[in-house]
Amino acid sequence: QRIYVPRDSFALALGADKIAAVIQNEIAARGLDALVVRNGSRGMAWLEPMVEVETAGGRIAYGPVTPADVASLFAAGLLEGGDHPLSLGDPEQIPFLKRQQRLTFARCGIIDPLSLEDYEAHGGLAGLRNALAMPPLEIVKQVTESGLRGRGGAGFPTGIKWQTVHDAKATQKYIVCNADEGDSGTFADRMIMEGDPFVLIEGMIIAGIATGATHGYVYIRSEYPEAIKVMEEAIGIARHAGLLGWNVLGSPNLFDMEVRVGAGAYVCGEETALLNSLEGKRGVVRAKPPLPAIEGLFGKPTVINNLISLASVPIILDKGGAYYRDFGMGRSRGTIPIQIAGNVRYGGLFEAAFGLTLGEIVNDIGGGTATGRPIKAVQVGGPLGAYFPEKLFDTQFDYEAFTAVGGLIGHAGIVVFDDTADMLHMARFAMEFCAIESCGKCTPCRIGSTRGVEVLDKVRAGIEPERNLALVTDLCNTMKFGSLCALGGFTPYPVMSALTHFPDDFRPQVLPVA
Ligand code: NAI
Ligand code: SF4
Repeated sequence: QRIYVPRDSFALALGADKIAAVIQNEIAARGLDALVVRNGSRGMAWLEPMVEVETAGGRIAYGPVTPADVASLFAAGLLEGGDHPLSLGDPEQIPFLKRQQRLTFARCGIIDPLSLEDYEAHGGLAGLRNALAMPPLEIVKQVTESGLRGRGGAGFPTGIKWQTVHDAKATQKYIVCNADEGDSGTFADRMIMEGDPFVLIEGMIIAGIATGATHGYVYIRSEYPEAIKVMEEAIGIARHAGLLGWNVLGSPNLFDMEVRVGAGAYVCGEETALLNSLEGKRGVVRAKPPLPAIEGLFGKPTVINNLISLASVPIILDKGGAYYRDFGMGRSRGTIPIQIAGNVRYGGLFEAAFGLTLGEIVNDIGGGTATGRPIKAVQVGGPLGAYFPEKLFDTQFDYEAFTAVGGLIGHAGIVVFDDTADMLHMARFAMEFCAIESCGKCTPCRIGSTRGVEVLDKVRAGIEPERNLALVTDLCNTMKFGSLCALGGFTPYPVMSALTHFPDDFRPQVLPVA
């Protein structure tokens, strides 16, 4: 009988290792026949650490558990799914989970992330087996038909990118997974690496077979030590099982891969800076063209995709492009793992078809703010994403709908703020962030962001506010249209959205007379 204690960073941060050890001791002391399995997270952050037990009637969850609760859980009959104040019943029936459409995250939190048997028993490798029976171009066609677009943020069609690499003539091609998940409030990539690493490995092998690439790299940010550990172990297991290396699953294909760890620069999430970093150079942005698909890693044709894009490929090859395309709206097809964070009651990962409104996400699903105060703003798409006021909460989660209201979906991270947020402070933070993280290659970003901080400080101090606010707008336009990459180019989104939607916060503050 299995007792699941997550090894996901959500749970680890809240003492899951200690809980696992206490459960282990309790099993030994009581002479029980039970096994502690370290699974990933189901993504309901407020319930972590969430312990699940396999009973004759299915899985029963308990949470949030502390080490002090363990003895009483056993006394209540944990192995039989006994009643306890922390009992959550069948985890699949928890409304937050029940409302989701989990395709990419179908196994996350359910399986043992380091068991290839568990992975296969839950539908893993079906996509790869189908892909191995297809000519490479047919694989590309399925991905194109699925409508899958880059989940890193830019939303470029994955199938078209693969087609470009497939068509490029070269002796060596590469697959690079961008797992430098730097956006504020995002954790989807990390959850996959910690909870279902084989789905990424499978996706990268399929990408390799489709495009003729034989080597892959997973570029993981150094702030994710647990993900790095699990990914490295999973790659070793896959190699040992004949999934990686020569003759992938007994086929004539070669594909191997390895993990590379970043060094903490946000800009290394930008694809060309990432490639430089992988090559051992400074993480400076390269001018495009040439596109990485033509001249990427070490000058060779390279598929560089966000982790979620690659992890969504196995289900597409398993069920077919048309199955995936049936989810979603407009040109945003399939599902998107929305990450709800910040000052919110029910934070976590919510995978759903495109089309939910922002209001549904933050109010119905997220339950409003954790503080119980009114929501003031929601930032969507990381530190470079726009702030949305409540009047835009009917915006549907869809690439084009967000663009139409001056925002971006980015990597689908949502950070909620209550009415105590100071939006001038948030605008200043965006400029300061850009100044710190700028790679320094182009002037609008390198100089503009520092000037932006100074000008906003003058606004705060009440120095010629009208003139200085006009200067901020002018500066934002220069950064937006004159920057080489998204860091400088998108910093104006949080600044200008804060200014447009919350003008009162930019008025000089009248200090009370002592
Ligand atoms: P981009 O629009 O320049 O490119 C998108 C992708 O399509 C790139 O991989 C590019 O190489 C590829 N591409 C374009 N034309 C192609 C063609 N004809 N054939 C093959 N491939 C082609 O956007 P960029 O600068 O790569 O990304 C900007 C986005 O990154 C923003 O939308 C932002 O939301 C997001 N972002 C994500 C972050 C994260 O942590 N995930 C952090 C910061 C920004
Ligand atoms: Fe570097 Fe900023 Fe220019 Fe991007 S916009 S290339 S981060 S200086």
